[in-house]
Amino acid sequence: MPAVQHSPRRNDFRYRTAYVVQSITPFLPVPIFFLIRFFIMVAEAPTLCALGCGTMGIAILSGILDSLKDTTSADGASTPDGHKVNKPARFLACIRSDKSLQKLEDLFEGEVACMKNKNVEAVKQSDIILLGSKPQMCKEILTASGMREALEGKLLISILAGTTLSQLRSWCPESTHVVRAMPNTPCKIRQGMTVLVCEEEITSDERSLVQWMFSQIGRAMFLEEKNIDAATALCGSGPAFAAVFMEALADGGVMMGLTRAAALELAAQTCQGTARMILDGQHPALIKDAVSTPGGCTISGLLALEDGKIRSTVARTIQDATERATALGKLSSK
Ligand SMILES: NC(=O)c1ccc[n+]([C@@H]2O[C@H](COP(=O)([O-])OP(=O)(O)OC[C@H]3O[C@@H](n4cnc5c(N)ncnc54)[C@H](OP(=O)(O)O)[C@@H]3O)[C@@H](O)[C@H]2O)c1
Repeated sequence: MPAVQHSPRRNDFRYRTAYVVQSITPFLPVPIFFLIRFFIMVAEAPTLCALGCGTMGIAILSGILDSLKDTTSADGASTPDGHKVNKPARFLACIRSDKSLQKLEDLFEGEVACMKNKNVEAVKQSDIILLGSKPQMCKEILTASGMREALEGKLLISILAGTTLSQLRSWCPESTHVVRAMPNTPCKIRQGMTVLVCEEEITSDERSLVQWMFSQIGRAMFLEEKNIDAATALCGSGPAFAAVFMEALADGGVMMGLTRAAALELAAQTCQGTARMILDGQHPALIKDAVSTPGGCTISGLLALEDGKIRSTVARTIQDATERATALGKLSSK
């Protein structure tokens, strides 16, 4: 059998055909050999279905499609730690309205097969299911007639806020492997941060595949489910907190005579550059100290920030938002 790196559907026609073809290829002329190798590669590559494809589904599919166009490598992809993954080669998107169907068809121009009100059919044809509906639709979608059978042996990745692994597990057959992902809004411009939570049964190939998928739209980090509310507060709500900080920086600039447009650009690029330095390994305290000359304007401004209790205010913001995420999660599981 060909090596299938995610949840394999071993009785699938494609895998059986690939096995037969692979067995006879060594006895064939060279051009036919390469043609057949190509066929095997396509047969082994998984199909990805965005089950519910709105803002986030579009962002994730677009990121993956763009990255597939970027690469010259035909037979694999790597996670940031160098683990090879079997990239999806075929894409489906499920929606329920004519308006969304039209929007997806215009956007993806044939690269994604768009299916309206054909969830079960689409899941049957797929290996990886990216669940991207609103959380309140989840149970209805996963418990629809025929869906349980369609999900057998598949990898389900849910991006739904607040829907827990145990809820998802209760709506899926045992052979479905489930991953919970929490992406954030900057994923739309491939600068997102996604937190991933896996069931214990997930294989290392599946972990790598999921990590690769979300690395196409920013960074991805595995955490335990107990940390998901804190992660939701920090990177799910974080863009709102960061935007308020940048808006406040710009307000100060406007107060001191800058135009709004200039002040916003200066604020955003300054935050982006500083964030890059921290992601590259520099400690925030060292960046701060390096800019603070004795008796200078930076230390003067820093003292004003400390007078306003910026550190405890921001830290408590994350604490508050985490507690709210936990409370909302308990409400939605009732
Ligand atoms: N937006 C964010 O920044 C963000 C961040 C983290 C996590 N999330 C999570 O991501 C999920 C999606 O958010 P979103 O902003 O992308 O929502 P959205 O734009 O409203 O997209 C929802 C999609 O689900 C489809 N859908 C709804 N019911 C369906 C059904 N029964 N069968 C098939 N498709 C169905 C909708 O199709 P129609 O348009 O045809 O109804 C639409 O394409 C949410 O659960 C949210 O918690 C979002």
